[in-house]
Amino acid sequence: MSEFDLTIRNGTVVTDSEQATGDIGVKDGVIAAMAESLAPGARDIDASGKLVLPGGIDGHCHIEQLSSFGILNADDFYSATVSAAHGGTTTVVPFAAQHRGQSVTQVVAAYRALAEEKAIIDYHFHIIVTDPTPEVLENELPPLIAEGFRTLKIFMTYDLMRIDDYQLLQVLEVAREHGALIVAHAENNDMIRWASERLIDQGHTAPKFHAISHPRLAEAEAVHRAIVLARFIDVPILIFHVTTREAMEEIRRAQDAGLKVYGETCPQYLFLTAEDLDRPDTQGAKFCCSPPPRDKSDQEAMWQGLADNTFQVFNSDHAPYRYDETGKLSAGPNPTFKQIANGLPGLELRLPLLFSEGVVKGRIDASRFVALTSTNMARLYGLYPGKGTLAEGSDADIAIWDPEAETKVTDETTHDLTGYTPFEGWTVTGWPKTVISRGRVIVDNGVLDAERGSGRLAKRELADLAKPLGRLEPEMDAARNFGVQMLR
Ligand code: URP
Ligand code: ZN
Ligand code: ZN
Repeated sequence: MSEFDLTIRNGTVVTDSEQATGDIGVKDGVIAAMAESLAPGARDIDASGKLVLPGGIDGHCHIEQLSSFGILNADDFYSATVSAAHGGTTTVVPFAAQHRGQSVTQVVAAYRALAEEKAIIDYHFHIIVTDPTPEVLENELPPLIAEGFRTLKIFMTYDLMRIDDYQLLQVLEVAREHGALIVAHAENNDMIRWASERLIDQGHTAPKFHAISHPRLAEAEAVHRAIVLARFIDVPILIFHVTTREAMEEIRRAQDAGLKVYGETCPQYLFLTAEDLDRPDTQGAKFCCSPPPRDKSDQEAMWQGLADNTFQVFNSDHAPYRYDETGKLSAGPNPTFKQIANGLPGLELRLPLLFSEGVVKGRIDASRFVALTSTNMARLYGLYPGKGTLAEGSDADIAIWDPEAETKVTDETTHDLTGYTPFEGWTVTGWPKTVISRGRVIVDNGVLDAERGSGRLAKRELADLAKPLGRLEPEMDAARNFGVQMLR
């Protein structure tokens, strides 16, 4: 009998800090050995010419969630995780979303039940806190945090989700006392409200005005305020979906001052602009998300932030709504921009897009790709080292990439249920050919082999928050930034 259930042989194994050619042996769902050469396993995969990467962790995605518009996402835990797996992601961290008046404990139990029944890859949850009553703050959150729900999401905008600054201070205090990380949607609600009311009054209702109604200053102001409040309570904070240079600079300044402030950006802010909201008819609705995509110069700023570690993580913010009466057009065929559900699909294409535009084009190297899409998320969320790396003892969550495969993106070939992709017609270079979750080959050359409900709640500990910080100096960046040539 062979020592391993599975071996992956002769691949270029990439972690966030190293690359080497060799073999990985898997036993009972865990990486049992890594060496230049291992004995054959019960199943052998030849990874010659391929990159062997930790499976992606999507640390910001909305699955089967009732939105702030009261509309359910297009995907459930099955379709979302199938889609994620096809794109090389092996762990998702969506939300258990409290709506006002609800018990957080019951909300978490309800989302866990949905995932337990349907998810095909491992998962955990952020808890969205919209109603921080004394019961929630004192009795519900502490045991949940201790159990592993170590990230609390807060909204500074959306009328039905937002909390005020005092409430935010209360949530920050709980995070400090019980060891949780705050993750924040930071936009100034009143600036958006003021701009939206005036636009609507003047008859400017088309989707393109969504971008104008979310002023870039509204983002920078709220990012600054969130950082100040977190600094006041002395607790770490991760700012979600940063879109502008100014907001990024707020984060960078805080990091330079030694604060534990982290940043995320998402595919839509690298690859789309506000012009995408100005498509014929109401097609621009497909591109409405908050904050909105900005302009080319912001895209460049986002790339810079990803390369120099102002941003530690790159997530999809998958929030899929169909372009029909169940989703984007739920208010009718000609909604005002205020009536369009916010969000885009992204679970499947997050990694291929970043690989193609980032690694293949030499903007980041493969180790930085791994850090941004997997390792840093694992560290910040307390999933490391079980998830987010390739090391003996870690879960065998692995994506074997063909760095040269060319794939044409169409809605027909993606696996979510949104019914459209914002990246229709794009060609990406590099694709995860084989995807492994806890030692199970769940996707092989586009063929799925995974049971509904075979994913599990991942283990989470107190996070290692120091490690992902520290800006990469330009010289060091240049040395690491060797592009695709070295990978061959
Ligand atoms: O437009 C977006 N991002 N929708 C999802 C909810 C959120 O704001 O994160
Ligand atoms: Zn958000
Ligand atoms: Zn989101």
